[in-house]
Amino acid sequence: MVVHGNFWVVVLLIIGVVAAYNLYNVECLPIPHRILLDTDVDTDDFLALLYLLKQNRSEFKVEAVTISANSWSDAGHAVNHIYDIPYMMDRDDVAVGVGGDGGILEDGTILPNVGGYLPIIEQGNTTAGYCRYRQAIPPGRGGGRLDIDVNFGIQRAFLPQGIRKYTPLQQPTSQQVMIDKISWGPITVIITGSHTNLAIFLMKNPHLKRNIKHIYIMGGSVGSKNGDPGNLFSDSTSNPYAEFNIFADPFASYQVFHSGIPITLIPLDATNTIPVSKNFFDTFEKSQNAYEAQYCFQSLKTDRYTTLGHLFYTNFYMWDAFAAGVAISIMHKSNNTNGENEFAEMEYMNITAVTSNKPYGVHDGSNPFFDGRDVPRFNLTKGGVHSGHVQTGLRDPFCIVKNGTGKCQDGYTAEVTGPEAVHVLVATEAKPNQNNDSTLDKQFYISFLDTLNRPPDTGRFNFTTQFPYYKEVLYKPDFGSKKLGKTVVFDMDMSAGDFLALVYLLKVPVEVINLKAIIVSPTGWANAATIDIIYDLLHMMGCDDIPVGLGDIFAMNQSDSILSSVGDCKYIKAIPRGSGGLIDSDTLYSLARDLPRSPRRYLKLCSFKKYT
Ligand SMILES: *[C@@H]1O[C@H](CO)[C@@H](O)[C@H](O)[C@H]1NC(C)=O
Ligand SMILES: *[C@@H]1O[C@H](CO)[C@@H](O)[C@H](O)[C@H]1NC(C)=O
Ligand SMILES: *[C@@H]1O[C@H](CO)[C@@H](O)[C@H](O)[C@H]1NC(C)=O
Ligand SMILES: *[C@@H]1O[C@H](CO)[C@@H](O)[C@H](O)[C@H]1NC(C)=O
Ligand SMILES: *[C@@H]1O[C@H](CO)[C@@H](O)[C@H](O)[C@H]1NC(C)=O
Ligand SMILES: *[C@@H]1O[C@H](CO)[C@@H](O)[C@H](O)[C@H]1NC(C)=O
Ligand SMILES: *[C@@H]1O[C@H](CO)[C@@H](O)[C@H](O)[C@H]1NC(C)=O
Ligand SMILES: *[C@@H]1O[C@H](CO)[C@@H](O)[C@H](O)[C@H]1NC(C)=O
Ligand SMILES: *[C@@H]1O[C@H](CO)[C@@H](O)[C@H](O)[C@H]1NC(C)=O
Repeated sequence: MVVHGNFWVVVLLIIGVVAAYNLYNVECLPIPHRILLDTDVDTDDFLALLYLLKQNRSEFKVEAVTISANSWSDAGHAVNHIYDIPYMMDRDDVAVGVGGDGGILEDGTILPNVGGYLPIIEQGNTTAGYCRYRQAIPPGRGGGRLDIDVNFGIQRAFLPQGIRKYTPLQQPTSQQVMIDKISWGPITVIITGSHTNLAIFLMKNPHLKRNIKHIYIMGGSVGSKNGDPGNLFSDSTSNPYAEFNIFADPFASYQVFHSGIPITLIPLDATNTIPVSKNFFDTFEKSQNAYEAQYCFQSLKTDRYTTLGHLFYTNFYMWDAFAAGVAISIMHKSNNTNGENEFAEMEYMNITAVTSNKPYGVHDGSNPFFDGRDVPRFNLTKGGVHSGHVQTGLRDPFCIVKNGTGKCQDGYTAEVTGPEAVHVLVATEAKPNQNNDSTLDKQFYISFLDTLNRPPDTGRFNFTTQFPYYKEVLYKPDFGSKKLGKTVVFDMDMSAGDFLALVYLLKVPVEVINLKAIIVSPTGWANAATIDIIYDLLHMMGCDDIPVGLGDIFAMNQSDSILSSVGDCKYIKAIPRGSGGLIDSDTLYSLARDLPRSPRRYLKLCSFKKYT
């Protein structure tokens, strides 16, 4: 017994030593920078995500991606796109958050899990609401939401299919993911979409603010060396000041800027100096040694073919990828208060995010925070900066100036003095390449290509390596000598009920009904990109011969008279974006991912207008 006792003492001592050593070691090992990316999953956004995921993981660890659901993509499509990217890289540990059905009550109480489908000013107690700012984003082709939702058809052609997918009632919400990851410990947040998710988080959980070490933002436009500061190409008649990410929810951006958390802004002023130039594009083409690089290049290439052609090289910028690069480079150096980094010149400026237009305190019916309320929403100050005219939509008459550019500044990251000024580190331009032997003229181009092609942690899968036996076969039914029944054309939107009806029509004996064509209207319960589910369903049923036509992207009289690719949402604003609404239809309640993949899909079918 005595011997035994001593033995245990020795063992415990050894365990003690090991434990102490481990503790010591944990303290000494550099802990990786934990990163949360909030993104609207546009092309430059996933370039940024891949650039971040390819960093040395013992230095920079992407822990979560949350989806900004009121901007350039639609939640159901965006979240499945995001699930496949970490899967390609064997990183299913990255948490992914989207949506949520919470609302904001009349008295300003923020319920849990607000989905961020709407800008805060339009957020009521459901997920349905008006597209006050989002109507500046084209919902259809030509680089609009339809193209972004399917990533120009490249997502289905290239990316492997992840194990994870959007599933109703099981999907972690953006707010849950933010609470989990931010309460765990110090974290850096990078925002490359609208600011709604983070603003809601900060308003609801002010006690967790201290865990956010720094916020890096791609967005805004501070000054302008040449012409208008903003980039609302669809809306400059009313607002030449705003940049899309801030314009998507100016009040949310105000909350983020004024949160007291240190902020670094990478605005258009800086990103405009680093386009996806022809030289960079051609170098990229020759430098695709990893799946990540291949995916980014193929996406850029298709984007170029389908949207801008030659203009691409001067109108498409590195935007979010550049912002991610600046963030990483600043974080590399500890105690880096002046934002020293390899890629951008930095300057401190005093700025704010404009949420309403002067004169303040005028009740003209444009501002639901104040109009018709004794106590302004969220207790905002009467006559304060939020109390002026708020842009009501495209071509808001208040904003239009005869024979001039518009005067509305909603979403402008303006330089100001006084109590509204926030001291922010701002990138002003991209730094030149230090290596004179390279033909690429900006330092970040080199880092981007090197990082995406870096061998460690390189992708396991692309679609062909994941499914080596997949063949693009079109199935056509053989009706032999059957007497065909009534010819039918089916006009559907893409809610679950419509899919049931479609299956029914296809199962009715062909002697009774001969389904000849399908016409899809994207103005109802699903977004246009959901058309790919119809192709897959027809493929499953062996009817790849049935043509599918996509109808007008806007309801009657909703498209804009100046630029027909944008327009109003007078009717579809009634359809919820969250559970039971668009996010569920766009994924067919998660079932869409289990359908066999048709060789037919949106964009593959369009003949691209090639500019060379
Ligand atoms: C990643 O970073 C760690 C810590 O700084 C370093 O020890 C390691 O060599 C790096 N790995 C690579 C592949 O660069
Ligand atoms: C939701 O808000 C509307 C007004 O916007 C109100 O009529 C309705 O009672 C509210 N519903 C709930 C459950 O709070
Ligand atoms: C997948 O990667 C392989 C090997 O790099 C390549 O041959 C193939 O074209 C890629 N698949 C797609 C769909 O690009
Ligand atoms: C960073 O700054 C803090 C406080 O100013 C200081 O204690 C710490 O030693 C600095 N760290 C480095 C690596 O310079
Ligand atoms: C910004 O404001 C601070 C005071 O908050 C002031 O000291 C500084 O000079 C201002 N900087 C600029 C660039 O205006
Ligand atoms: C709004 O302000 C009033 C008076 O300052 C205060 O009593 C009330 O609690 C505030 N409400 C909220 C929701 O902050
Ligand atoms: C505005 O433009 C129109 C035609 O371009 C011109 O006839 C008119 O005089 C201009 N008005 C002003 C105030 O400049
Ligand atoms: C690149 O060229 C500039 C002048 O053109 C020179 O000052 C610099 O030292 C050169 N850098 C390298 C790395 O050769
Ligand atoms: C469309 O708008 C025009 C002009 O605003 C109007 O005359 C017409 O009646 C509208 N058509 C429909 C179907 O609402």
